[in-house]
Amino acid sequence: MLQQALRVSSRSASPLLRCADRWLDSLGSRQKEGKRVRTLEEMPGPSALGFIWDLFAKRGLARLHELQLEGRKRYGPMWKASFGPILTVHVAEPELIEQVLRQEGQHPIRSDLSSWKDYRQLRGHGYGLLTAEGEEWQSVRSLLGKHMLRPKAVEAYDSTLNKVVTDLVAKLQLRKQQHSSGVITDIAEEFYRFGLEGISSVLFDSRIGCLEPVIPVETERFIKSINTMFVMTLLTMAMPAWLHRLFPKPWDSFCRCWDYMFQFAKGHIDQRLTEEAEKMARGEEVQGRYLTYFLSRAGMPIKSVYSNVTELLLAGVDTVRISSTLSWSLYELSRHPEIQSSLRAEVLRVLGDRRLPTAADVAAMPLLKAVVKEIHRLYPVIPANARVIADRNITVGGYLIPRNTLITLCHYATSRDPAQFSEPDAFVPQRWLNRKEGKHPYASLPFGVGKRSCIGRRIAELEIYLALSRILIHFDVKQDPKGVVVKPMTRTLLVPESEINLQFIEH
Ligand code: HEM
Repeated sequence: MLQQALRVSSRSASPLLRCADRWLDSLGSRQKEGKRVRTLEEMPGPSALGFIWDLFAKRGLARLHELQLEGRKRYGPMWKASFGPILTVHVAEPELIEQVLRQEGQHPIRSDLSSWKDYRQLRGHGYGLLTAEGEEWQSVRSLLGKHMLRPKAVEAYDSTLNKVVTDLVAKLQLRKQQHSSGVITDIAEEFYRFGLEGISSVLFDSRIGCLEPVIPVETERFIKSINTMFVMTLLTMAMPAWLHRLFPKPWDSFCRCWDYMFQFAKGHIDQRLTEEAEKMARGEEVQGRYLTYFLSRAGMPIKSVYSNVTELLLAGVDTVRISSTLSWSLYELSRHPEIQSSLRAEVLRVLGDRRLPTAADVAAMPLLKAVVKEIHRLYPVIPANARVIADRNITVGGYLIPRNTLITLCHYATSRDPAQFSEPDAFVPQRWLNRKEGKHPYASLPFGVGKRSCIGRRIAELEIYLALSRILIHFDVKQDPKGVVVKPMTRTLLVPESEINLQFIEH
């Protein structure tokens, strides 16, 4: 009654009373919301059978990103789905994603990579940033963050990365000559190797030969191990431990892949650290401009250096992060020649008569950054991320989410939401230069946000900017003359559904 009385009298009254009115409004809605906290039973969602049908019929697993759009249309911004005993809450609106991430606590948990942890326990290896949790994760994260998230520290890698980009350009020149029309087929494969070479040069300052005409056997085996390990991850996590004894093949193969990956990283780390130690013993100056050197100097125990470097090497390529971004960028630029020309003009204007961009140059290239942002919006490499809040129940969108519930953050749905982005399916990099577009800051989060966000973001962006700008200086990139339209598909990450073939014309 008091609220009502105040409300009526304040309608035509002074600013002070209007302020009281707003306060009453918010109080009222909070009270109402308090009453309206709903349980998961009340949350809409497909039946267990319906969900399995969606997943496995009509190539559902490859279309998981599109199922986000269908889910939001059918059930609204939040829905639940059960797969066996696992219940997942899907959240597909930026405001609600923000609510989840603001409640993620001190030590956010993404999801449980149980078989990765089992392997480390079995072999007595340490945990790296991808597998560590709690205090252990926090201490590794703050040590790595000091280096990997500091703009100045990352900028210092531009010359290292530029050497790798030089090899990439040479490789593209070679490949285009092999085809009379200058078409390079399956460009993502080339960029995958570039991504791996780039991250390993940042980690060890040594080259592993991914861009050479013939890839060294041990590097080829490393690449195969990563791929097989990913395939086996799903199988080993789906099988209870006792089944590993009955059907040992997946677990054995999974362990063999990890053994080789650890051995590969350890070989490079030991070699580099020995070289540095020998230099020091000779009284020579040690520059050590690479991440492994920084970690060992910062006092990280060698066991943790091995596990962290192995996991960073893996996260850096995680099958396709850099390669997908570069492939989609060139795909869209080939279909939008006017944007490609403007971007090339921007790069050339900033460089003047130089041909080698630095990190500082990139800072003066707004269109380049806008193109990459737009590519990440249209094709978010991680179309759905996850959080598990283990220590308490939280409320999101008026629903009570019990602790330990798996929450799926539907980034593909929010970044293609017409309420956030006009013409959401079109490639319009200019929207990022135009401050008028009223997007929510959580509508497109290609690198995540907050404490557990991507620690390699700055390195990845630098690598992508340097590669894109130099490719455009050297080549005009045109559509595949066959004009094939390529769509994205989900394979945990969002990847091109078919090969991206592009025509490269040298300037
Ligand atoms: C285009 C390139 C990349 C994209 C789009 C990307 C995206 C992401 C995303 C979305 C996450 C999860 C964030 C979260 O849960 O909130 C993540 C985590 C992570 N990324 Fe990246 N990433 C990229 C490249 C890299 C590179 C090059 C490295 C290594 C140098 C890297 C290392 C990591 C690590 C270690 C984590 C886990 C961080 C933690 O758990 O604390 N990423 N990345």
